[in-house]
Amino acid sequence: MKILGISTGTKNGNNDTMCRVALEAARDAGAEIEFIHAFDWNFDYCTGCVACSRGLVMGKGMVCSRKDDFAALYEKIIDADGVLFVDPIFESGSSGLFKTLCDRMGPGHDSGLLLGAHFQMLKETGKGLDSKYFKQKAISFVGIGGSDWAVRVETDHAMFAMSPGWKIVNNEYFSWCKDVIMQDDKIERMKEIGRNLAEVAAEIAKENETMKLPIAENTKSYWRGKEGACPHCQSNNFYIFPGTTHVVCELCGLEGTLEIVDGAFKFKNDPSIVPNGLPEHAHDVMSGKQMHGDDIFENEGRLMNLYKDEEFKRRKAYYTDVIAPTPSPSKEA
Ligand SMILES: Cc1cc2nc3c(=O)[nH]c(=O)nc-3n(C[C@H](O)[C@H](O)[C@H](O)COP(=O)(O)O)c2cc1C
Repeated sequence: MKILGISTGTKNGNNDTMCRVALEAARDAGAEIEFIHAFDWNFDYCTGCVACSRGLVMGKGMVCSRKDDFAALYEKIIDADGVLFVDPIFESGSSGLFKTLCDRMGPGHDSGLLLGAHFQMLKETGKGLDSKYFKQKAISFVGIGGSDWAVRVETDHAMFAMSPGWKIVNNEYFSWCKDVIMQDDKIERMKEIGRNLAEVAAEIAKENETMKLPIAENTKSYWRGKEGACPHCQSNNFYIFPGTTHVVCELCGLEGTLEIVDGAFKFKNDPSIVPNGLPEHAHDVMSGKQMHGDDIFENEGRLMNLYKDEEFKRRKAYYTDVIAPTPSPSKEA
């Protein structure tokens, strides 16, 4: 059983250290461990070219226009049974590098789009995607902050797991951490997070062997953190539609209302949106992914057809002529 730790902090800084603390505990629990300091690798940000979603929708497999180390990182992640991200908190949320990795992950590695591509490739070429891409995986996230600005970071982090639909074990943040190596309570918690990840990764790896991949869906929860306000994904962040009690979970996309029960906000799924209280629309379950995939397919198709439309071409040309962009002072034209 293999645990991969990825730190997006400075070299040998607090994030690297805390990642190593958890990895050592995972190794003591029987795991093989690997550590990646993300800044040693080369990751470009996503340009939004949508080659990935088009590639999958058209049954061409996993395609990306950026030629850097992301595909190699993805393979490392795929080969691991459990993954831990330790990421510095920037401006109350994830770091820019983490966000880049998150953007590069989805939609090009969305399990729903991968499944669609798999069957299309199977039909057209007789060969689908390797079943390793459909294995479930344990994943944990820790944000390390130098102050107490942190309330968006768990949602930012967990978003990485929405596209592949992997199982989150722990997702938390530690504040006031400049001297974290001297804070024994945080070191102990980090060890616990490493052990939890190793235990759940071993459990999931065993279950993967008995599941009929790629079709079977593991619907179990392996959450080992504190109960969150969203009963499905444990997130505590909701978007409130202005002037209403209607909210949407910022992470898994479930909709409902927030009500005060026994002095605490309780999220209630709206049964007209989520029948029987089941999370059919959630971003990390196959039913939700299928709906989202169908919507993407329809929208991409409409846009492809519009490229031949005269009025579309006229509007594009008109706004392109309104103003040209200022060239970068540092980049060659
Ligand atoms: C651009 C920037 C923004 C930051 N914003 C926050 C913040 O919102 N909340 C917080 O707790 N710490 C914030 N910090 C502190 C970092 O989280 C802290 O420096 C980092 O975890 C140190 O990790 P390292 O030693 O692994 O590099 C910020 C630091 C930088 C450079």
